[in-house]
Amino acid sequence: MPLDPARLRPFWYPVLPLDQLGNDPVAVELLGEPLVIWRGGDGAPHAAPDRCPHRSARLSSGSIGADGSLHCPYHGWEFSGDGRCLAIPQQPQRPIPEACRLRTYPAQARYGRVWVCLSDQPRLPLPSFPEEHDPSHRLIDGFWELWPCSPFRVIENGLDNFHHYFVHRGLLQATTAQPDPIEGPIEDTVDGFRFRIPLQVHNNAVLKDTLDQDTDTLTVERQVSWIAPLGLSLELEWPNGLRQRIVLHAVPTNPQDTRISRFYFRNDTEEQVPAAAMVRFERGLIDQDRAILTAMAAVLEPWPAGEHLIEADQPIALMRQRLRELIQSL
Ligand code: FES
Ligand SMILES: [Fe+2]
Repeated sequence: MPLDPARLRPFWYPVLPLDQLGNDPVAVELLGEPLVIWRGGDGAPHAAPDRCPHRSARLSSGSIGADGSLHCPYHGWEFSGDGRCLAIPQQPQRPIPEACRLRTYPAQARYGRVWVCLSDQPRLPLPSFPEEHDPSHRLIDGFWELWPCSPFRVIENGLDNFHHYFVHRGLLQATTAQPDPIEGPIEDTVDGFRFRIPLQVHNNAVLKDTLDQDTDTLTVERQVSWIAPLGLSLELEWPNGLRQRIVLHAVPTNPQDTRISRFYFRNDTEEQVPAAAMVRFERGLIDQDRAILTAMAAVLEPWPAGEHLIEADQPIALMRQRLRELIQSL
């Protein structure tokens, strides 16, 4: 059964790379709702439905005033970052009715993204990563692209510890079709769960470019975290001490499309491994995943019927169960 997208509203999602937010309002879509994003006078992002409360013009086609207010392109009404109507040019002498207010949504700038929650009461906090304030780590912006697929399939793919041997053969080249067992218990976190699972890979030429490491076979220690409802963090620790966190979000943009957001923290430097080399390697892996995921039905369906999960699918089964509990608790 497809899920009503309204059930996914009270959560934070990345909706726009910060570097795409300039001096004009920007149109984005989240859970099928057109939104306008703009930068206010204090530099912080603001979010609202892309629809003027006067007569429904697209506010994203408007402009931003010197004070950071949003101006409608149709008749020039002006709105503050908290949605107050500041000016109605057609009747400057009259008081501005409270009803002329623009509804706004919580918005924040973090990790090079604008994040929006389509509810005034987010059910979970915006995810936090300790590397954000750790000067030994750098933040690398990886991917921001639209895929015609289900966001749930993308997250399940990240929790799938045994597709590497088939899907990523030739690139990641995991050494066996059988997954290593999860080490220790699956632990609850504030916003989901996490588990540790190693992965043995062949260190091929493309991977070597991203690792600064020369051996032919490597075991990468991995901690995989599900960040409810549609985020994932993969913490990788390589034998040479390189630590890399991959943060993936699968954002339900509209019923057919998922926005893929992927950024990274790494404790090496640009001189050791250029970000472009790492992104090139990731591009290859992601394209292999994309081919599988976009060939499946693009249905917003977290609990598909008629599937037969095996023991190694335990994290996926648990995610489905936790998601059901979370959504039913709203
Ligand atoms: S529709 Fe926006 S000011 Fe009239
Ligand atoms: Fe993959």
